[in-house]
Amino acid sequence: MTSPWNSEVFTGLFQFAASRGELCPKEIKSMDTSRYKHLFSGSQLKGLRVKNRIVFPPMVCFGYTGEDGIASAKNLEHYRLRAENGAGIIITEATSVKKNGRAATTQLGVWSDEHIAGLCDIASLVRGHGSVSLLQLHHAGLVSPLGVSPEPAGPSAEAEKPTSRELSPPEIRDIIKAFILGAFRAREAGFDGVELHGAHGYLINQFANPLWNRRADEYGGSFENRMRFADEIIKGIRELCGNEFILGYRMGANTPALEDGIKTALYLESLGVDYIHVSHGGNLQNLPRPPKGFDFNWMVYSGVKVREHLKIPVIVVNEIKTAERANFLIESGLADFVSIGRPQLADPFWVRHVQLGEEINACLTCKPRCRWYESSDLCPARKKLSEKVY
Ligand SMILES: Cc1cc2nc3c(=O)[nH]c(=O)nc-3n(C[C@H](O)[C@H](O)[C@H](O)COP(=O)(O)O)c2cc1C
Ligand code: SF4
Repeated sequence: MTSPWNSEVFTGLFQFAASRGELCPKEIKSMDTSRYKHLFSGSQLKGLRVKNRIVFPPMVCFGYTGEDGIASAKNLEHYRLRAENGAGIIITEATSVKKNGRAATTQLGVWSDEHIAGLCDIASLVRGHGSVSLLQLHHAGLVSPLGVSPEPAGPSAEAEKPTSRELSPPEIRDIIKAFILGAFRAREAGFDGVELHGAHGYLINQFANPLWNRRADEYGGSFENRMRFADEIIKGIRELCGNEFILGYRMGANTPALEDGIKTALYLESLGVDYIHVSHGGNLQNLPRPPKGFDFNWMVYSGVKVREHLKIPVIVVNEIKTAERANFLIESGLADFVSIGRPQLADPFWVRHVQLGEEINACLTCKPRCRWYESSDLCPARKKLSEKVY
């Protein structure tokens, strides 16, 4: 493993700090630069250099875009702040491949060619700051709210949702095509690749999970049938976007149980997926229990277990929270990359602050859930920064 503190990185940091007039050379020299050396070690993803092991995971910013789903100046500013001296991999928020498959009326979209120009601005600024740029492709399926889709549809109708219904085979093929076209538009916009949102109980995850998928046709029943929806999306993207284009998959580890998650990850690897990002499956059943002494939650544990079976890189996520803990996961060989989500919402300069040993604007782990789901303006940590940054 190479040290990040080679002359190239050091010179880069020095130039950056000097250009901002924030640090004098003496201060830089006095930094303890070896503290998080594993976290700041370079790596590769499908032949692309990744400058550190930190991922800015997909995080929706509802309200930043209008009904048209076109990236706004707010979206751009959001990624610009986080890309400046930021994470090695930046994955955009869930970006909808179908207007009637959104999770909210103000969600970023990629369902039409009109989205390409705005997405191009995001991709070029992320790449311009030296991060690998990925776009997360999403369809909410059964959990689309009524304001988006009066008849939310998925693999099977949901008893608790009286207006929900089962997708017909032609509709399924139409959504598969929308995912493939979404990936193609992401490539046109200049992204290095896409991540399929196959977690959190959204459409791809609904097909994979037998608790939601009770179909009797070729898209339901056996494991292979339930994975057919993802399988056809993956093959189509490969065909249209080529082999160089990064194709990642965010999976729900408990779909429905961790053993199934491991099987799913192996299957995805065999289909030619380039990395796996392990999160939850949108339900609270079959949660794996980390062994005593494992100081992370069940999602990180699931990522570590999935990784034991794969050759492709694995990103682990959820409540990693600090650079110490993130560095530990990399140093111990438990993960290839670590996603740091809410801390980077609370402090857009989290990566730089860690790297320079500066004070971090801490995330307060709001309960019952992060306020960004409603509006970033409600984030108490962001309020502290607002005069300086926003
Ligand atoms: C406000 C908010 C928005 C999110 N949006 C997405 C999303 O668009 N796609 C996705 O896969 N996960 C999404 N997530 C989950 C995050 O990517 C991440 O897995 C989660 O925040 C846990 O990581 P953390 O503990 O480092 O924050 C979101 C989480 C939050 C709090
Ligand atoms: S709203 Fe709360 S949990 Fe979300 S980023 Fe801000 S401080 Fe953290």
